[in-house]
Formats: sequence, C-alpha cells, structure tokens
Amino acid sequence: MKFCKFIYKFIMKVVETVKELRQALSGEKNRGKTVGFVPTMGALHRGHLSLVQRCKKECGVAVVSIFVNPTQFNDRGDLARYPRTLAADVQLLQVAGCDVAFAPSEKEVYPEPDVRVFDFGQLDKVMEGAHRPGHFNGVAQVVSRLFDLVKPDYAYFGEKDFQQLAVVGEMVRQLRLPVKLVRCPIVREADGLALSSRNALLTPEQRAAAPLIAKTLFAAVDMVCSADLAALKRFVADAINASEQLQLEYFEVVCASTLQPVASLDDDCAKQACIAVRVGKVRLIDNVRLS
Ligand code: PAJ
Repeated sequence: MKFCKFIYKFIMKVVETVKELRQALSGEKNRGKTVGFVPTMGALHRGHLSLVQRCKKECGVAVVSIFVNPTQFNDRGDLARYPRTLAADVQLLQVAGCDVAFAPSEKEVYPEPDVRVFDFGQLDKVMEGAHRPGHFNGVAQVVSRLFDLVKPDYAYFGEKDFQQLAVVGEMVRQLRLPVKLVRCPIVREADGLALSSRNALLTPEQRAAAPLIAKTLFAAVDMVCSADLAALKRFVADAINASEQLQLEYFEVVCASTLQPVASLDDDCAKQACIAVRVGKVRLIDNVRLS
C-alpha cells in the first residue's frame, strides 16, 4: 500500500472535464499547495516544457492545459492545420513534472459561445493585433475562462509571444484577477530559430531558411548603436525578403511596456524588436530586446 502511494505521487492526472479538474485540484488546494498553471495549445516542445519545469519548481502543484482555442484563430486554415499531438504531449508532460494535464473539449471550455469583447486600448492595435483581427480577444476569452476554472496562484507565459504577455497582463489588471504572471525567456534551437509548434509544419527547405529570422534580429541588436530606425527597418526587410522562402509581414521596434512603435531609436524607453514572417503558409513570430 505504501509503495502504491509512493508511485501514485508521481503519476500525472489527465482530465478532460471541468468536474474532473475540480476533483483533481480540490485535494491539493485543501493541503494549502500553491497552484501554478501553464496554458498551452499542445504540440509541445522544449519551449513549453521550460515553462512547465519552472512552474513545477516554484509551485506545489503544476497544472497544464492543452486546448487549441478556436476563438483566437482569425484564419480557419491555420486552425485546421494546427498540429495536434495529444498522446506525445501527455508523455512529455509526465516527464516534465506536470501534476494535472487538462485537455478539454470545446464544449467543456465554452458551454455557451463566449461573446465577451475586451478593450485593451492601443495594446492590441499593433503588430499581431493589427495583422490578426480578433486574435487577442480570443486569447483573453480562453485565458480568463481557464483562469476561472484552474484558479492558479501563478501562471507561466513565454516571452516568445511578447504581445500576448502584455495583453494577458492588462486583462488580469482589468478583471482584478488574483493571479501572478511569470514571464519566461524564449527557448531557441541551436541555430537560433525560436521553438514554435508551427515549426513542425515547415518543409525541409523552409526549415533551413527559417533561422534567418533570429539571425536578422540578432544583427539588428548589433546595429542599434550605429543605425537609425529607418536604416534598421530597411536592413531587416532586405535581409528577410532576400530569402526565397521568407516574406516579411512586419518588423516593429516598440516600447517594451506600451508596445507602441518608437519614433526613433533614441527614444527613452526599453525597446523590443518584434517580427512576423510568412514561410509559405506558416507564420512565425520572434522578438528580441534592443536596448
Ligand atoms: P502556445 O502557442 O501553445 O504557447 C503556450 C505558451 O508557451 C505561451 O506562453 C508561449 O509564449 C510559450 N512558448 C511557446 N514557444 C516558446 C518558446 N520557444 N520559448 C518559451 N516559451 C514559449 O500561446 C498560446 O499557446 C495560446 O495563445 C494560449 C496562451 C494557450 C491561449 O490559447
């Protein structure tokens, strides 16, 4: 019996319904454990797992959700193509130290259609928000819904989605949610490419071209003292579009806190360079601190 209890401690629970989730968490919460939460859309890679490992290290119980949220996809094709690898994800989560994996159906997350409309001011009018209408409203819908179900003390998000972090932070502020957001650094491949579930959709030729995105961002960091904003933008556009496989969608230098584009590289704020690139039908994003 003792042995069974020992083994049981290390077995992750996989739950699909809100009822099962509540059951899985009530005991842990009663024991006064802090709840850490990592929302994901699955197709997990080392980037996601770095969040899960940190969550487990810092919290008593680590909850991970896997849910491809339809309301944040403005492009039906993107939603249909999005990789789904639940069986492999569950195995990776078990090894990473996840305690409860929540993989709900759409009906479970949205018993009724979510018609809430958020107002994030200028935060979601730029970059991803401008190029993917409705995307951040969908992110806010699902993250607020998941926060309401899991009721985490801490929630872990990657800086890979820099604007998402800002928008979720604003949502938490507006709704006065009792959760602390933890920012986690971008995990990259050895060749610099930021890990993304969408990388799995690249052809070998596209995959070979994709590291140019990070390489160009890193070169921009090196140029920041010697170039002006217009020259930097020209450099990035020329470098990306020189590849037959890549097409620049946007490159912006923004103030890291407000996400508003800077007028000059001399602007007195922490600056983030953010990029979105089309690689065939796949869209990749990345970002880097400029100064
Ligand atoms: P998804 O793209 O699956 O990402 C889940 C989390 O993993 C996000 O916080 C994201 O920033 C982080 N992440 C992804 N790639 C990373 C990398 N290379 N390094 C570090 N962190 C990385 O973001 C979403 O899902 C969804 O919008 C979600 C928040 C789950 C709402 O549906």
